[in-house]
Amino acid sequence: MPKERVLIIDDDAGWSEAISTFLELKGLEASYAGNCREAEDAWRKTRPDVAVLDYSLPDGTALTLLPKLKMIDPSIPVIILTGCGSIDLAVEAMKMGAMQFLTKPAELGSVFIVVKEALQIRRTRQRQLLDKELGTRREQDPFLGKSAAIRQLAELVQKISRFDSPILIQGETGTGKGVMARWIHQHGPRASEAFVDLNCGGLSSELLETELFGHEKGAFTGAVQTKSGLLEVAHKGTVFLDEIGDVDLQVQPKLLKVLEEKQFRHLGDTKDRRVDIRLLAATHRDIGEQIRLGKFRSDLYFRISAVPIILPALRERMEDIPILAEHLLRQLCSDLAIANVALTSGAMLALQSYSWPGNIRELRNVLERALLLRESDRLSEKDLHFDIHVESARHSTTPMKTLVECERDYIAEVLSVSGGNVNSAASTLGIPRSSLYHKIKEYGLTKASTFTTH
Ligand SMILES: Nc1ncnc2c1ncn2[C@@H]1O[C@H](COP(=O)(O)OP(=O)(O)OP(=O)(O)O)[C@@H](O)[C@H]1O
Ligand SMILES: [Mg+2]
Repeated sequence: MPKERVLIIDDDAGWSEAISTFLELKGLEASYAGNCREAEDAWRKTRPDVAVLDYSLPDGTALTLLPKLKMIDPSIPVIILTGCGSIDLAVEAMKMGAMQFLTKPAELGSVFIVVKEALQIRRTRQRQLLDKELGTRREQDPFLGKSAAIRQLAELVQKISRFDSPILIQGETGTGKGVMARWIHQHGPRASEAFVDLNCGGLSSELLETELFGHEKGAFTGAVQTKSGLLEVAHKGTVFLDEIGDVDLQVQPKLLKVLEEKQFRHLGDTKDRRVDIRLLAATHRDIGEQIRLGKFRSDLYFRISAVPIILPALRERMEDIPILAEHLLRQLCSDLAIANVALTSGAMLALQSYSWPGNIRELRNVLERALLLRESDRLSEKDLHFDIHVESARHSTTPMKTLVECERDYIAEVLSVSGGNVNSAASTLGIPRSSLYHKIKEYGLTKASTFTTH
């Protein structure tokens, strides 16, 4: 392992010499800078792992130098050395990002202890950053399992991912739509280009448009600068629009234009821009129903769903649970940096007896909770805690209807009970016959000619 580097920033050459020699004896590499200018230079060129900074220097103070150093590389920890009279200033420096301060005259041994701590903190931070990167980049295999459902899906997806066409991924929450989208990108023709994802759920149409298409300076209040949209960022790569079923009707034609003409406009711009992307989209909604309700354009649907991919719910492939559970456990143990933990056969049986409304996400969560709270090095059924509330809610509710859907269904029911007699249905509903005709037409309930008035 290369030696870790300490930079001493101090105009007292004798002291710098002494501390450098001491730190080198302790196995570190040390160099020094006598003023702010030299310090900035060394910060850029040698990238130290930690710095010890004297409060006052010939051409400035720690308070003026620190922001400049942090601009170049904010991750390097800084320890401030200060005289007893300027502790307030040292505290000020800590507010600006210094990690520690020591008062002069400092003992060499104390400086070494503080330097060692700072290096330890820096190493931990860097490892966490790396782990986070690896965690988000780790490629997940969306086809774990041997059920017929997942094998057929694997065959289909492997075929279509090689082409460049848009793909719509459907499935309940937690079935792995995001995992699938990444896999398709990584195994498609644009694997070496960008993968940009945006969750459209809960975004207002204005925000969605600026995120996707970007805007010109002054396009709206607050647009102080021209901003590129995600489509430009993803040029030549893949755009993954999660929850596409939530995209506002106003925005849908613009998406269609991107797919059909490879053109779009910044908000507030009059010129079209060219962009070349592959679109992957996902939704947990029933898009057919969205189209019937007039919330999703059928032309956009046809454009993105040449081959529909529907991810099976976990309860439809219970035989895959052992493979999935063992895989997820191995991953969780590695994330938590603990030795592998096994499942007892009783635990496996319990996993296979639950209905998993939250699908693979819920399976992962149940296993993670069990791992954290476990009492031995094997997980038994007693360690597994299922989300009972979700479970009972699932049995007690079909998806909630909107008020309009309730009205439509109720009118249909009354019409059916009255044998299609509009007079009698209108009287049951307590509304004029003309209003009922209007509603029948509005909801496209069935052809009015099949109803009678007597
Ligand atoms: N095949 C898999 N292997 C390992 N982990 C998986 C797999 N599929 C899904 N997961 C895990 O399950 C969780 C949910 O996956 P993902 O976010 O892709 O689901 P989703 O269908 O997009 O859910 P939502 O509809 O809520 O957005 C994630 O933690 C993911 O890592
Ligand atoms: Mg998702």
